[in-house]
Amino acid sequence: MTAPDRRSAESLLGLVGGTPLVRLARAAPAAEVHAKLEYLNPGGSVKDRAALAMVLDAEESGALRPGGTVVEGTSGNTGLGLAQVAAARGYRSLFVLPDKTAVEKLDALRAYGAEVVLTPSALPREHPDHVINYATRLAKETDGGWLADQYGNPANPEIHRRTTGPEIWEATGGRITHLVSTIGTGGTITGTGSYLREVSGGRVEIVGADPVTSRYGGGDGSPFAVEAAGHYLHPETAEDVFPDVYRREVVDRIETIGDRESILTARGLARTEGLLVGGSSGTAAAAALRVAREAGPDAVVVAILPDSGRAYLSKYHSETWLRRQGFLDDDRPGTLAPLVSPVVSVPTGTSVGEARAALEASGQAALPVVLAGRSDRFPPAAGEVLALLSMSDLRGVSSEPVPVPATPPVGVGTGETAAEALARLGPDVEAVHLVRDARLAGVLSLGALRAREH
Ligand SMILES: Cc1ncc(COP(=O)(O)O)c(C=O)c1O
Repeated sequence: MTAPDRRSAESLLGLVGGTPLVRLARAAPAAEVHAKLEYLNPGGSVKDRAALAMVLDAEESGALRPGGTVVEGTSGNTGLGLAQVAAARGYRSLFVLPDKTAVEKLDALRAYGAEVVLTPSALPREHPDHVINYATRLAKETDGGWLADQYGNPANPEIHRRTTGPEIWEATGGRITHLVSTIGTGGTITGTGSYLREVSGGRVEIVGADPVTSRYGGGDGSPFAVEAAGHYLHPETAEDVFPDVYRREVVDRIETIGDRESILTARGLARTEGLLVGGSSGTAAAAALRVAREAGPDAVVVAILPDSGRAYLSKYHSETWLRRQGFLDDDRPGTLAPLVSPVVSVPTGTSVGEARAALEASGQAALPVVLAGRSDRFPPAAGEVLALLSMSDLRGVSSEPVPVPATPPVGVGTGETAAEALARLGPDVEAVHLVRDARLAGVLSLGALRAREH
């Protein structure tokens, strides 16, 4: 694939790649930090490159034949890229997505004519309904089915070696000193990084930008709020394997970035640079700004920003969401932020007797039950608070272990006011858990909430 001529093309597939760099002049006035705007690809993300490359490769090898079906397990952007190529080249497309995927992304896939199947987000890697296993099965069962397999397909990193890397080298006139990229499948950083390292004779430093709890940077694998980057690990996964396309040796070091920093950086890029980008772009930009600060004035840092903020208007760019998740909490009087306090919680599988004793000793209004198997290096993720049990819940229970209801409890964010939180709680609620940075940060009785209201 050569750099596209953006003035006209035979098909929109001729417009994939060739994205520009823009300097982050306001975020980093004293340094040279450039953002590579992958949202300017026709399907809206960096994944257009891998999607097109994988399809062309499969056509060439005969793995994908006319009238065939493109199948993939994807959290969104790879699906959009593949759905776009499938539509333009006359294939059916079928995607398996985690059920937490933003509704805008599902609708976009359907708009391209794709079929969408949802599966639970948090499953062990070995579970038959895990996104990847489910998609693999569907591809086998579908006549003419071809699994794109972004995690194992060498065409994914290879296209970044052939296009993304050379584009950055050329756009900086060979002056780049640091490449900063998030790691999802690892295709972007592996391909782009290996090219830049080779062409510069090892001078360019390759920096991974990773959510704090992601496994790539050494986290415990517990959930993080930034979508599509990082490596999540379900505690029941027996063998934690990184994707085949990710080559760790290409990465010189990893900067870990907390969700709050990633998300507020993404928000800042929209507000100060006019760049409406997604959460993983915030992760990459935050790491790039840190790298530039440490490297000094001669550094030329390039961050790859994978996608647009359009798909996340109801998340990272929504003040309501930010306040409920406790990412924004210091800009208004009367929020729940001052009520943050240490929390005693128990893992799933705890006996009712132990839970009662723990609740009594804690003095809390209720006891959070969290997914078992996490380290205590980080507070439990809000998404892994599976129950919130009061003494009356525990008193009447004879079965073991502690009960976990089908619907998780509603939490309230440190960025909400007590009145806002109270307005959306059901009539039977006796206590709620407090959420800061999408993690457990307190337990509040209804009385404590009401007292804060006045
Ligand atoms: C928004 C977003 N950020 C980051 C990534 C990570 O890119 P890669 O899979 O090439 O590592 C992806 C990939 O799906 C993505 O969609």
